[in-house]
Amino acid sequence: MGNLVIIGAQWGDEGKGKIVDILAKDANIVVRYQGGSNAGHTVINERGTYIFHLIPSGILYRGTTCVIGNGVVVDPGALIEEMDRLQPLGIAFGKNFAVSQRAHMILPYHKAIDRASEQSKGSRKIGTTGRGIGPSYADKMARVGIRMGDLLNPALFRKKLEENLVEMNWFLERLYKVETFQVDKVFDQYMGYAERLKSYIVDTTTLLNRAINKDKTVLFEGAQGTHLDVDFGTYPFVTSSSSAAGGACTGTGVGPTMIDAVMGIAKAYTTRVGSGPFPTELTDEVGQGLQERGREFGSTTGRARRCGWYDAVVVRHAAQVNGLTSLAVTKLDVLDGCKELKLCVGYRHGAILYKEMPSDLDVLMQCEPVYQRMKGWTASTTGATTYKQLPVEAKRYLARIEELADCRIDMISTGSKRTETIILRNPLKCSRRRPRS
Ligand code: IMP
Repeated sequence: MGNLVIIGAQWGDEGKGKIVDILAKDANIVVRYQGGSNAGHTVINERGTYIFHLIPSGILYRGTTCVIGNGVVVDPGALIEEMDRLQPLGIAFGKNFAVSQRAHMILPYHKAIDRASEQSKGSRKIGTTGRGIGPSYADKMARVGIRMGDLLNPALFRKKLEENLVEMNWFLERLYKVETFQVDKVFDQYMGYAERLKSYIVDTTTLLNRAINKDKTVLFEGAQGTHLDVDFGTYPFVTSSSSAAGGACTGTGVGPTMIDAVMGIAKAYTTRVGSGPFPTELTDEVGQGLQERGREFGSTTGRARRCGWYDAVVVRHAAQVNGLTSLAVTKLDVLDGCKELKLCVGYRHGAILYKEMPSDLDVLMQCEPVYQRMKGWTASTTGATTYKQLPVEAKRYLARIEELADCRIDMISTGSKRTETIILRNPLKCSRRRPRS
């Protein structure tokens, strides 16, 4: 078994949680490497429905260790709430759970600034989740961030908090005209969190590398998607982390030579939450149909997701910047009953035909999708577990997706349950690139 990175190939919400949950059975460790509680990974199994925001989806398996890597921004209050929600359901947190000392924290002022800044932007707003993600990463890059390890050193934590609040309160009061925060209150609240979390805060980089050296299998669970990546997404309508595969290395301290495969998850159509360009968006009843049948409402904010046709330019771009070794196509069943399907194979902007994703946002905003029409299918694919069961039109549609992305499909999801999946090849069963000495 190799070490595998799972990433979203579109704008997030591709169904990574379900795929990670299936593959986690064969993994020793599942690690989150970026993002924070802006993510919402849904897993449905025979015991119920679980939504994870910070905790890796592998936590449902007793033998799997779950790690929150240094690239994640952790809201300790949200983490404790999530643990408290899962514990009564029989999920234990002990030696099977670790949080990086180097992971930056989300503080109450990050959430306040996130919301106030969005409000002040009016029609230019990004549509963030309001979880404080951007401001926390901004502090990290400005070198004034406070890390999980600082919770273990109260004097240092207080000093950093005092220094940061001088500036943050100035912004909140003078620029945004909202409430400010008191050092004592925040300090006491976070010392309470420290008491609860201290046993989990460790050097996760050493933990992961030692495990890999002992031939353990690690699954890197990406959050959001490639086109929300701060570098490769539709900037500035992106999140503030590296959600593409490169983030798996910087967000864990595991080197690129230790990673054996990268799987991209793509819906059989496209969705997006929040603002920003979306060339294949459907604002008519076809889009509404996808939204209803696909139950396209955000698991973190409950917002309705924008829906549109499958965009092969987007997935090809993801294949390129992530070095995808395979794809998983999810929600194929949502297309059941569509008489005709459209696949976007390029963008037209004036006289120019783009086959690759333009980086200029103004250009992307004005692009017209160029579609290939394909015959849909009337038979149900819901719950199919073998490729043979699929109607010939669905097979043709999937073959075209493979061809356009120049990437093989390893898995197809045909429903929300674990069992409603076609596994053509287990992507974890790849050879380790690094020769063992
Ligand atoms: P932020 O990550 O809260 O700063 O939000 C930035 C953008 O990323 C917004 O458009 C959000 O809707 C989007 N976003 C953040 N997390 C997710 C996710 O898990 N799924 C889909 N979109 C997300």
